[in-house]
Amino acid sequence: MMINGVPVSLPNDPRVSLLDLLREHVGLPGTKKGCNQGACGACTVLVDGERILSCLALAVQYEGRAITTIEGLGRPGALHPLQQAFVEHDGFQCGYCTPGQICSAVGMADEIRRGVPSHVTRDLAAETIALSPDELRERMSGNLCRCGAHNGIVAAIAETLAEAAK
Ligand code: FES
Ligand code: FES
Repeated sequence: MMINGVPVSLPNDPRVSLLDLLREHVGLPGTKKGCNQGACGACTVLVDGERILSCLALAVQYEGRAITTIEGLGRPGALHPLQQAFVEHDGFQCGYCTPGQICSAVGMADEIRRGVPSHVTRDLAAETIALSPDELRERMSGNLCRCGAHNGIVAAIAETLAEAAK
């Protein structure tokens, strides 16, 4: 598989999760292990642009796929626009949920672009989906923040996506 543009061999042990491959085998600790059972979103990464929970994924399932982690989105001195917005809007305190929030928001933006409806989308036939506060909160509801920084997180994502849509 490719991880952030670098080829990586699959693990010999088929039981290794994608999350553990990233953190323990490849040395990319940006992706966080929270619940390790699909409930918190801290482990969210992008696979061919789609957001997934890496704690629920076996690494061997992703042969030939392109994985993007927070390390692949931006770096010090060249932050991704969402990373910059999280700083400006106080979108984190401890920062543990932040990589997952940002990867999830990148995946969500693509879902909006493709017209994928959510549980709160009123018009399922609409060609474009407006990113209302309800849409944003519903679509990010799989990413929990125990510090309670949700208001800053929502503001950062809303501003970044609005800028990108101009
Ligand atoms: S660590 Fe994967 S959802 Fe919580
Ligand atoms: S910033 Fe601490 S859990 Fe979200």
